[in-house]
Amino acid sequence: MLKKPEILMTPGPTPVPPEVLLAQGSPIVYHRGPGFGEVLRHVTEGLQWVFETKNDIVTFTSSGSGGMEAAVVNLFSPGDKVLVVSVGNFGNRFKKICDVYGLEVDFLEYEWGKTAKAADVQKALKPDHRGVLIQHSETSTGVVNDIESVAKVVRDHPALFVVDSISGVGGAPIKVDAWGIDCAIGGSQKALMGSPGISFMTISPKAWEANKVAKCPRFYWDWAPVKKSYERPDPETPYTPAVHLYMGLAEAIRLLRDEGLANAFARHAILSRAVKAGVKALGLDLFGEDPERAVCVTAVKCPEGIDGDKLTALIRAKYGIIFAPGQDALKGKIFRIGHIGYLERSEILQALAVLELALDELGYPVKRGDAVAAAEEVFAQA
Ligand SMILES: Cc1ncc(COP(=O)(O)O)c(C=O)c1O
Repeated sequence: MLKKPEILMTPGPTPVPPEVLLAQGSPIVYHRGPGFGEVLRHVTEGLQWVFETKNDIVTFTSSGSGGMEAAVVNLFSPGDKVLVVSVGNFGNRFKKICDVYGLEVDFLEYEWGKTAKAADVQKALKPDHRGVLIQHSETSTGVVNDIESVAKVVRDHPALFVVDSISGVGGAPIKVDAWGIDCAIGGSQKALMGSPGISFMTISPKAWEANKVAKCPRFYWDWAPVKKSYERPDPETPYTPAVHLYMGLAEAIRLLRDEGLANAFARHAILSRAVKAGVKALGLDLFGEDPERAVCVTAVKCPEGIDGDKLTALIRAKYGIIFAPGQDALKGKIFRIGHIGYLERSEILQALAVLELALDELGYPVKRGDAVAAAEEVFAQA
């Protein structure tokens, strides 16, 4: 049998366009000088465009978690009091990072599947909080928080507003300037269609002020040298970057610019609606509050008697398609279908078709074709 690459229906890494792979396979560009300078400028300006901001952007060769850590160490000092709002696994990660650096964390923790509420944040916010940290898209549950409404609460408070949009940016709107976000963090491997390995963040003037007095220890993550290197006539990074990944991300951003941001959001929203219609047509329930907001990843409750881990393992082994299993407390209880990145309608129909087959094989009664037909109906109306 031919061995083809697995198909990623995961919320990251996501499939990467051939143009990006070709760019990554091109001869290496030296990282000091005009060649890489142009790539870095293209990436940085492109990210400003996606985040809808005029604020500075810094990038790091790292996974998304590195970006989260960079935000914490550049903005705060040990002993600073912050409010971490968690609706799942990645909110909990923010708390772990703050704990490691000795911040004093007030933890507004929701049951997994719930969305954060601006009124709760307002109630929890205290005058001495130096920051509010939250996820835009909480990948472990699929929930997309209403960041705009939370921002309205935080905007009138001295606290810095820090938003992890690692699985959100490019998939769901995040208007950094209009909403007043001080630091929004993203990663290359999700809706932006890049390979894993680059994290980046936006930095407001208020965040730069905080950076000047922030005492958390930092070297690699220090924003100041990154900004200084970027401001050279040929922009650079202070330390050797993953040059090929930057070349790939520059190409991915070029493709996104060609598509247009509004069109990319519309594409993701339609794919999301189709997935949701498909799973519901099989009698399955969606997991999480406000599923219509969950445009990046759809979390589905496993029906009685079906183990989500077994289901995703079967689909992977038999059909070469990867769905994401549930994490932590949701292990086995949900499975997740990612619909961000380089995906189009045919891949959604394919994913729903194999879901039907796998559920059938595991003994869950399905009428084959129902999920595919329901998704096709969404596409026909879009
Ligand atoms: C919302 C969110 N935050 C943080 C991360 C961590 O990113 P990474 O795995 O690239 O370190 C992820 C990765 O899935 C994520 O989805």
